[in-house]
Amino acid sequence: GPAGLGVEINIDYVSVCVVDLAGTGRVRQTEHLDNRGTPAGEALARAARIAARTLESAYEQELRPVGAALALPGLVSGGSVRQAPNLGWNEVPAQRLFAEALAALRPGHPVLPVASENEANLAALAELWFGGLGDVRSFLYLTGEIGVGGALVLGGELLRGAHGFAGEIGHVVVDPEGPECRCGSRGCLEQYAGQAALLRAAGIEGIGGASGVLELERRADAGDPRAVAAVGEAGRMLGRVLSGAVNLIDPDAVVLGGIYRGLMPWLAPPADAELTGRVVSGLWSPGGGRLRASSVAGDAARGAAALVVQDVLDDPVAY
Ligand code: BGC
Ligand code: NA
Ligand code: ZN
Repeated sequence: GPAGLGVEINIDYVSVCVVDLAGTGRVRQTEHLDNRGTPAGEALARAARIAARTLESAYEQELRPVGAALALPGLVSGGSVRQAPNLGWNEVPAQRLFAEALAALRPGHPVLPVASENEANLAALAELWFGGLGDVRSFLYLTGEIGVGGALVLGGELLRGAHGFAGEIGHVVVDPEGPECRCGSRGCLEQYAGQAALLRAAGIEGIGGASGVLELERRADAGDPRAVAAVGEAGRMLGRVLSGAVNLIDPDAVVLGGIYRGLMPWLAPPADAELTGRVVSGLWSPGGGRLRASSVAGDAARGAAALVVQDVLDDPVAY
């Protein structure tokens, strides 16, 4: 039956997911590769090749994707990546380049319409639709990646802002004299709580990407003081910035995704302590259940695929 194709193109991986009309992830594929070393057009063409392979497996399972959505680690509007700091992309017409590359790989097939959105926003939608949020309709979502992404969901609606760029919490300034950020500013949150900063502070060098994060979890779990301190410090920084955001928008919950999911045992207590001390309403208490780990795996790609499915359900006749 009809299905949605979601493609997350992040800094060091591409993840693809096909969901059916019930939103269930049926086909998934993740490839670890470095998108920084490649011109944007080539990186998008490579992602299209991975997507084309995934489409083949989907057809074998009688799924018929009717559209695709891209989840991208930057500021996205009008089908283009305006800026993706950690990819070094500026004004890249990602939607068009991906759609053309995919169409070229599948001569004779109908051209798939392609949409695009910030990856943290899509991870937040996946959490809203498929996560274990219960009654929570207003939440702040943070995703730990090489950068730090964010999304604001208020009353069940994604808050987009005037230009579609709301939620860029990774570039909130923690220390104006801090290290340079890829966005051009200094001392942004992601310089303290992003993946590279965490691995560096923990003394993990030469092991990048997913293996580096697993190594960090392993060391923290074994009680390695440097690893525990690095994650704790990131938790404090996150908690400080989050307390400002909670004071501004008063959400029911804060949900942490990406690499933060596996680091919760060491990250959450200091973050919770900062929040408790700084949330002015007094309505934050340690272990009070408002700081949560994301419960959806493969989140941004699944959110992207579900966005396509949502369109089908909204307008079934068009498909
Ligand atoms: C980007 C965000 C992105 C986040 C996580 C940040 O540097 O500005 O758009 O969501 O990294 O990838
Ligand atoms: Na966002
Ligand atoms: Zn920045």
